[in-house]
Amino acid sequence: MNLLLTNIKELLQVREPNIHKVSGSEMKELPTIKNAWLLVKDEKIADYGAMDNMPDIKAEETIDVSGKIVLPTWCDSHTHIVYAGNREQEFADRINGLSYEEIANRGGGILNSAKTLQETPEDDVYAQSAKRLEEVMKLGTGAVEIKSGYGLTEEAELKMLRVIKKLRENYDLPVKSTFLGAHAIPKEYKQDPNAYMDLVINEILPKVAQEGLAEYIDIFCEKGYFTLEDTHRLLSAAKEFGMKPKIHVNQFNAIGGVKAGVEHDALSVDHLEVMNDEDIDALKGSSTMPVALPSCSLFLSIPYTPARKILEQGLPLALATDFNPGSTPSGNMNLVVSLACIKMKMTPEEAINAATINGAYAMELSETHGSITRGKTANFIITKEIPSYTFLPYAFGTNSIDSVYINGKKI
Ligand code: NIG
Ligand code: FE
Repeated sequence: MNLLLTNIKELLQVREPNIHKVSGSEMKELPTIKNAWLLVKDEKIADYGAMDNMPDIKAEETIDVSGKIVLPTWCDSHTHIVYAGNREQEFADRINGLSYEEIANRGGGILNSAKTLQETPEDDVYAQSAKRLEEVMKLGTGAVEIKSGYGLTEEAELKMLRVIKKLRENYDLPVKSTFLGAHAIPKEYKQDPNAYMDLVINEILPKVAQEGLAEYIDIFCEKGYFTLEDTHRLLSAAKEFGMKPKIHVNQFNAIGGVKAGVEHDALSVDHLEVMNDEDIDALKGSSTMPVALPSCSLFLSIPYTPARKILEQGLPLALATDFNPGSTPSGNMNLVVSLACIKMKMTPEEAINAATINGAYAMELSETHGSITRGKTANFIITKEIPSYTFLPYAFGTNSIDSVYINGKKI
């Protein structure tokens, strides 16, 4: 099956040869072809070029996309899409003056979601999560990472990871799976957090690995959650099972989590709302991708990741949603890109690079996703008729997407 798009107003993120990530001032550049064509063959990007010198191509289907822009689908490298129920009551409580921390301290927050998840049958968790996955695919997400972490018991963590596995089997986009058993300390272990770490490391982690249910390991390294010592312990143990770290650090406090992540060759360190100079220095010369989650900052009214400071130091940056029931009940990457421009002062070029190729890197997918490159998977977005690509982040809250293609097929 081959498909030809003609008269593309502008084809974005064209990379030949392929690249794996962009860093620092390189992120200002977004290579494009104006008035372009794109050929898809057998689920892959076969060829593309400028309309002026389009060869004679016999395609089974040709679509004239005059006035519309084509770009690679978003690569959302940090989500908690698998969960049960919602936490809109906590949202109202926060409006009425309680803080995220106060809500968590009285048993709300992650523990609230864990209780609901434990009580919800697997099929039901699957159905609720599949609905969210379909919703974000329609919003242009073409590759996604999903974490466990709302189980907090062996049974419930494995349940979550099986749901992630089933999503991967039933949907065409790449779904990466991360074990986040160390997301919060369950009530029963409040007096003895080490015993919970023992359970995660000695009991749950080996089962997760044996059943091949997660490729990555995560921990919420934060005051009131897990310490630096816990982080070192868990990441060392996970390494034995070949699981690379993608960790939650520096959301509320800088306690050395970035450095710990880099020391363990983390694929990414995520959140980074609070960054000091030592954190930035730790990232220099490393292969770890910093990941910002601006819709979490919006929803919780906390600082935004200092993107300018990170990019000025020559570092790369990826953008992701953090879609979860507590701090970010939204999986809309278009909004993330807008917020990055509006609140983090990233240029549209930087934000699009961060949400495509750098997001792909943070999921080890940049060989196959994240750019328009011959041989890559044909995952792309066709926009509505819009004046320029800057219109995408500018018209925040507007759905500028006409259609989304995954593996060359319209969803
Ligand atoms: O990434 N920070 C830790 N975990 C999630 C929020 C969890 C929740 O509130 O349910 C996050 O923001
Ligand atoms: Fe998160």
